[in-house]
Amino acid sequence: MSEPLVLETSRLRLVPIAATDAEEWWRVVWSDLAVARYLPPQRTLSREAVEERVGAALDHWADHGFGIWLLREQPAGTLVGHCGLLSGDSDTLELVYALGYPVWGRGLATEAASAALAYGFDALRVAQVFADVFSANTRSSRVLATLGFEQEGQVHRFGAELDRFVLRRT
Ligand SMILES: CC(C)(COP(=O)(O)OP(=O)(O)OC[C@H]1O[C@@H](n2cnc3c(N)ncnc32)[C@H](O)[C@@H]1OP(=O)(O)O)[C@@H](O)C(=O)NCCC(=O)NCCS
Repeated sequence: MSEPLVLETSRLRLVPIAATDAEEWWRVVWSDLAVARYLPPQRTLSREAVEERVGAALDHWADHGFGIWLLREQPAGTLVGHCGLLSGDSDTLELVYALGYPVWGRGLATEAASAALAYGFDALRVAQVFADVFSANTRSSRVLATLGFEQEGQVHRFGAELDRFVLRRT
């Protein structure tokens, strides 16, 4: 079996999600409305629903060799959120991320997303990465602008109009 695809930044380890992570992921991200309101389906999820999401994330890793990483702050290894690259149309990936509410405002999402983007552009050699954001989610739009994304219209997804941000390989 190949080694898990772990990425490192100055403060974080990005570790591929594992079946045993459901409880922690639920606690940090999906049980808190402050976080989950900006993620589809815009509400908190049950522990069982998160088990299903972990299953889908594992399938994505198996099918594509990349996917959702959990973000573990070093040195303690505390789970602070997730970041991921999801397979899109040919030559395109979707960037997703979320942080537990207590760690907002420290630059951890920008740091994790930079590492994921570097992997997408440099290792996977995709032409572009997009992210779709509920329009009230100004914190996320700021993160994407910092990373160099530009808004390119809106898309209808998850029963809402979302702002689409795109970053192309330079
Ligand atoms: C979107 C989300 C991850 C953004 O969190 P965040 O903490 O604002 O983003 P970052 O971790 O990159 O932190 C950036 C902020 O930290 C500040 N900051 C502090 N120290 C920093 C550092 N060392 N490096 C960079 N930024 C730093 C920045 O100035 C910025 O604050 P500002 O936006 O007020 O200017 C978070 O709000 C979240 O999880 N929301 C719910 C889920 C979600 O919306 N996901 C995205 C769906 S598209």
